[in-house]
Amino acid sequence: MSELEDLYREVILDHNKNPRNFAELDDADRTIEGVNPLCGDKLTLYVKLDGDRIADIGFKGTGCAISVASSSMMTERVKGATIDEGLQLFDTVHRMLAESELDETALMELGKLAALSGVREYPSRVKCASLAWHALKTALNDSTESVSTE
Ligand code: FES
Repeated sequence: MSELEDLYREVILDHNKNPRNFAELDDADRTIEGVNPLCGDKLTLYVKLDGDRIADIGFKGTGCAISVASSSMMTERVKGATIDEGLQLFDTVHRMLAESELDETALMELGKLAALSGVREYPSRVKCASLAWHALKTALNDSTESVSTE
């Protein structure tokens, strides 16, 4: 295993063990339910907005290590970001999970989130990593629809 893969693995293990923002928000403006029907795992995403900014964000649910780590990393990254920045990041993460190569600009934008890039080698895991991001996109688009990875 390369040093970079080692580092990526560490990041994912850390976020799975100590998920950031693992909390329900009582005063959330948007609450989105997500499910991965393949395994039955569930996620609820809470977003509190202040104008066009994500003032606070939290999640609850059950999922595998990739799912929890991805949710945790997503919330850590977008807290304080604008709605547009969150949607832009969704697009880049989606490209990272769906395409093989990303350009330098996209990699710079991803930063630590690039730790999730190894997941694309395992198609069933892509859904685990995507769930929280689809929930984010739905929340930021002001939709109340629930999200499914199918
Ligand atoms: Fe269920 Fe990954 S196996 S979310």
